[in-house]
Amino acid sequence: MSTRDLWNRYARYFNAEEGFVFPADQPELDFYSRIRKEYTGACLEIGAGSGRLAGSLKGHSVTVALEPSDSMLKGWATSDCELAARVQGIGENMPFRSGFFPVVCFPYNGFQCVPEEEIRIRIIRDAFRVTAPGGVFLLEVSPVFARRDSEPLTERYRADMPDGTRLVLREKVERRRNPDSIKYHMFYTTIDEGRETTEEITLDLAVTSRDQIINLLKETGFCDILEWGNYDHTPYDDELSPRLLVLAVKGI
Ligand SMILES: C[S@@+](CC[C@H](N)C(=O)[O-])C[C@H]1O[C@@H](n2cnc3c(N)ncnc32)[C@H](O)[C@@H]1O
Repeated sequence: MSTRDLWNRYARYFNAEEGFVFPADQPELDFYSRIRKEYTGACLEIGAGSGRLAGSLKGHSVTVALEPSDSMLKGWATSDCELAARVQGIGENMPFRSGFFPVVCFPYNGFQCVPEEEIRIRIIRDAFRVTAPGGVFLLEVSPVFARRDSEPLTERYRADMPDGTRLVLREKVERRRNPDSIKYHMFYTTIDEGRETTEEITLDLAVTSRDQIINLLKETGFCDILEWGNYDHTPYDDELSPRLLVLAVKGI
């Protein structure tokens, strides 16, 4: 299934979870706001989804939200549409001029949502291409996924939605080694006035280490790489950090 087809099916569940089932992650939103204030000029978000970070990434210059999925793009709130220019497209072949964006980011493990290594490499190369000389590229990944094991099918939540339906997620985790990935088999059941419908969505997340990310960025040409282990700018620690945030410069 293509990226676009997968995210077209997954969009309504992802957006329900991020917008309603789980609380907003304020430190994450603040982190992206701070980055946007510190690094000025036109900003590109790769894999912008339904604009969850649009408020944080708005700035004095234009913010461009690149997203492959029609359903994700349709999910933008009307008020958020004013905060960014939405463009449909994929990170491995971006419809932008070389060197146009002083700030480029690929947040929230979007990079790991691309299971094919060759395409992930092409995304980093294209991110380098569209970054302005002297500009920065911010990438967020979770090397901690490498420590995740397979898990049997269990119920994760049961949530009463604002439209009166109930959403239930049952999930099985399959840890795979070659290629190194985590396959989430998600079974979403919608209960509407007693009627139940279940949809299965499978998300294959690439497992990637801190060293693989840093080497890939360096090989692509990025330099002066800063690393943090969380949104509060704590140093990255392979054992303890919940995520890896890297800020890499494209030299002049
Ligand atoms: C985990 S979601 C994050 C969405 C949004 N950034 C957020 O934080 O809510 C990952 C996004 O990456 C997009 N994506 C997947 N493959 C992509 C690709 N090859 N190029 C660009 N975006 C991609 C998906 O459609 C999805 O919207």
